[in-house]
Formats: sequence, C-alpha cells, structure tokens
Amino acid sequence: MLYNRTGNSGLLLPALSLGLWHSFGATSDHANKRALCRKAFDLGITHFDLANNYGPPAGSAEEALGEILATDFKNKRDELIISTKAGYHMWDGPYGEWGSRKYMIASLDQSLKRMNLPYVDIYYSHRFDPNTPLEETMGALAHAVQSGKALYVGISNYPAKQTRKAAKLLREMGTPCLIHQPRFNMLQQEPKEQGVFKAADEADMGVICFSPLGQGLLTSKYLNGIPEGSRATLGGFLKKDQITAPLVEKLRALNKLAEARGQTLAQMAIGWVLAHEEVTSALIGASRPEQIEDAVGALGNLKFTKVELGKISGLIAS
Ligand SMILES: NC(=O)c1ccc[n+]([C@@H]2O[C@H](COP(=O)([O-])OP(=O)(O)OC[C@H]3O[C@@H](n4cnc5c(N)ncnc54)[C@H](OP(=O)(O)O)[C@@H]3O)[C@@H](O)[C@H]2O)c1
Repeated sequence: MLYNRTGNSGLLLPALSLGLWHSFGATSDHANKRALCRKAFDLGITHFDLANNYGPPAGSAEEALGEILATDFKNKRDELIISTKAGYHMWDGPYGEWGSRKYMIASLDQSLKRMNLPYVDIYYSHRFDPNTPLEETMGALAHAVQSGKALYVGISNYPAKQTRKAAKLLREMGTPCLIHQPRFNMLQQEPKEQGVFKAADEADMGVICFSPLGQGLLTSKYLNGIPEGSRATLGGFLKKDQITAPLVEKLRALNKLAEARGQTLAQMAIGWVLAHEEVTSALIGASRPEQIEDAVGALGNLKFTKVELGKISGLIAS
C-alpha cells in the first residue's frame, strides 16, 4: 500500500480506502462484511469510511463495523482511521438532517454509540446546508474535535465557493479542515471541472474521491450485460437504464486500453483518479473480497503517458 499525506496535515491515508455504504446493511451477510474488512486491512487499507445513514436500515453499517471492530480488530484501533458523516436524513422531525449544531452533535453521539467507539478519526459534514449559517455547521465540527469525539474534520459534496468559506472558518476556529470528499471518476469529473480540487488544494486540504469505479460501471462487470445481483439490479442509486448501449461501447473501448496497460478496467479507473495530484485516496466500495484485491492491483501501474490520457479523454468525451 502507498500512504499519502492528507493536505498539509500530519495524517497519512492509504491510496485506497474502503467505504461501507453498500454491502454492510442489516440484510447483507455478516461473514462477508468481516471478510471485506479483514481483506482490506491485510492489504494495507487502514481507512474505513462510514456515514450515519449507511445501511439499510440507516445506522446498520455503523453497527456492523462496531461488531467487526470488537471481534476482528481487537487492539487494532490505533492502526485504523474511521470516519463518519452527518448531513442526510437520519431521523424524523426537524432535527434529523442537514447542518444544524443540534443535528450534527446528536448524530455524532449516535454514531459513536452504534460503533461503540469513544471517538472517530474524521467527522464530516456530509453536504452543504444552504439554510444554516456555515459558521454554525463548522462550529459543530470544531466542537466535535474540542470535545474529543473526533480527531479531524472534513466536508463532503461541498461546492468550491463553500469549500473555501468552510476552510477559512475552520482555520479561524483552530480546527483546520483535513479533507474534502467529492465524487470523482472518469465518467463524473465535476470536482475537477467546477474548481473543487483547486479550492481544496489552495486550502491545504486533502481530497478523498468516492465512487472511483462509478459504482461498478468502470469495471468489467457490465461489458456484456447486467449480471443478476450486481448493484445495478438492486434498485439503489445505480439504475439499469443508465447502462445504455453507447455507454457500454465506451466502457469496452476503455477496457481495451486498460488491457494494453496490462490492467483491468477497475485498476485503470483507480489509477486514473490517483493520477490527479490533489487526490489523497480513492474511496472504493466492494461486494466481495476479490474486488479489493483487484483494486489494490491498481498500485502496480499508476503512471499514464500523455497519449494514454489523451485517449481516455477522447473516449469519455465521445
Ligand atoms: N460522501 C458521499 O456523499 C458518498 C456517496 C457515495 C459513496 N461514498 C463513499 O464512497 C464509498 C465507495 O462508493 P462506491 O461503492 O460507489 O464505490 P465504487 O468503488 O465506485 O463502486 C463499488 C462497487 O463496484 C463494484 N466493483 C468493485 N470492484 C469491482 C471489480 N473489481 N469488478 C467488478 N465490480 C466491482 C461492486 O459492486 P457490485 O455490488 O455490483 O459487485 C462495488 O460494490 C462508499 O462506500 C462510501 O464510503 C460517499
């Protein structure tokens, strides 16, 4: 594993991190959840990323991790970076989502209880709340650190302008913003195009990119149809009708390019994300331990020639 410095902080994050958004809900197989975490850790993936609402039901991924930490990671807490977030709907009534101090602090207390932890390493505001003063949301993050419930704080899905403002506020509060977590992959490049990378870089923050595989699109999974049990068949955020014939054409061409580099498409997609100098870590998901092995294989070839980068841009734009 490679470990990259997060912004200008003292914290090193693995180039690959594991997210528990999918495959860790109450109906998923517990033995598989344990196998995923163990495989990741054995390959040097020291960072597990959660949010209050991961499941389903919301909260169950944190509960699962709490159990796994107790059974499989005894005495390993200091070797792990565990993050969680609050921002999306978590409980009924006016205090169960967005960015108020009330919600942010109550949600962190609930997350700690579910994971049976005294603190998380990184606590995130999961989304920008246009109706709450940013001072209040950032104040709640700073409070989490000051009260010993989080070591670092981050923001996720924040646009560039709010990223700059959040970074300034947190710096003034004495709790620098460690990291930004946007979605970024070959098919979805908004953080690069809309200035989020630049804003994070200028604020000395790290960047951890979620869905580097486009939820599985940027793997060999959908090149010849939509396999039963794949994420696109589960009725979540990735829909079957997104997998159009022109997209599959594009993916097949990208797959050929990956083969020419001696990689799988998933490995090339991860390598491409990590080739952006602002990026600290690629935050993958997995439904099987072998997928984590495949992902870690990306580290074997992280260099892209100008010609390859040009071909990838051309294919994506086509
Ligand atoms: N901050 C936010 O708002 C936000 C939002 C979304 C996600 N996240 C974070 O980012 C993490 C990762 O997101 P993601 O799961 O969408 O990431 P991803 O890495 O783009 O997609 C992971 C999925 O791709 C498929 N896959 C992975 N490796 C494969 C391989 N080698 N061959 C074939 N298929 C493969 C698997 O789906 P199958 O089930 O089909 O096998 C796997 O679950 C989440 O767990 C969460 O921590 C954050």
